Amino acid sequence: MAKSAKETGSDDATSDKVEGCPRHVAIIMDGNGRWATQRGRPRLFGHHAGAKRVREIVESCPDFGVKYLTIFAFSTENWKRTQVEVAGLMSLFRRYITKETRHLQERGVRVRFIGDRVRLDSKLTKLMNELEEATADNSKVNLTIAINYGGRDEVARATQRLAQDVAAGKLDPESVDEETLPRYLDTYVLPDPDLVIRTSGEARISNFLLWQSAYAEYEFIDTLWPDFTRAEFGELCASYGNRDRRFGGVKR
Ligand code: IPE
Ligand code: IPE
Ligand code: MG
Repeated sequence: MAKSAKETGSDDATSDKVEGCPRHVAIIMDGNGRWATQRGRPRLFGHHAGAKRVREIVESCPDFGVKYLTIFAFSTENWKRTQVEVAGLMSLFRRYITKETRHLQERGVRVRFIGDRVRLDSKLTKLMNELEEATADNSKVNLTIAINYGGRDEVARATQRLAQDVAAGKLDPESVDEETLPRYLDTYVLPDPDLVIRTSGEARISNFLLWQSAYAEYEFIDTLWPDFTRAEFGELCASYGNRDRRFGGVKR
């Protein structure tokens, strides 16, 4: 049976809320390839520039009241890219983890990974597990990195585990409701995102956090990810505060 957020000791849905600030921001970091092409450089040059941007955004989270930051690094569909690009990205992820561990520790960042790890190479998954363990006691910022993540794949994997629990007699099918499935998702310890940002001018979600973003606010901005700055992040967080989230209700 999947564990609830309470059982795993994560904070509940209301704690650490800063008024007017998005508590959980999710970012589709898009546009690295175009950024590189504009400079006449290979796509991987853009991915390296993009990875460097992550530090500044993570560092700025406490200033904007952001307690959870979830970033989309590699989708279940990104395997369709050339072998050179995929291998380059995998090696970039390994490098990022190795290089950033100390800095993440110093900043009190707890790192988690979501996505299906089965298809990832063991060198990378080892580093991912180690970083999760090493930062498990941190609580200033919760950084979740989505690698080989797809919303549909996540729901399918969750459903498989749920069905296994039913078959094993651990779960009564009559009791399954909309609180049940999220307990089987990769994100089971995280609150739903309040704000989803996508850079690079594309207005689509590309299979990111499908279940979790049902009532998220969205920002689609033209900036390419390697040009995204703390200042722009701050503006988007501030304008989130002016939005009227009704969740199907009526404004009072
Ligand atoms: C986003 O940048 C990073 C990944 C998907 C890994 P892209 O590589 O998609 O950049 P564009 O969209 O081609 O510019
Ligand atoms: C979404 O970007 C995935 C990541 C940012 C990791 P893509 O560039 O893969 O999405 P599409 O292909 O434009 O929809
Ligand atoms: Mg893209």
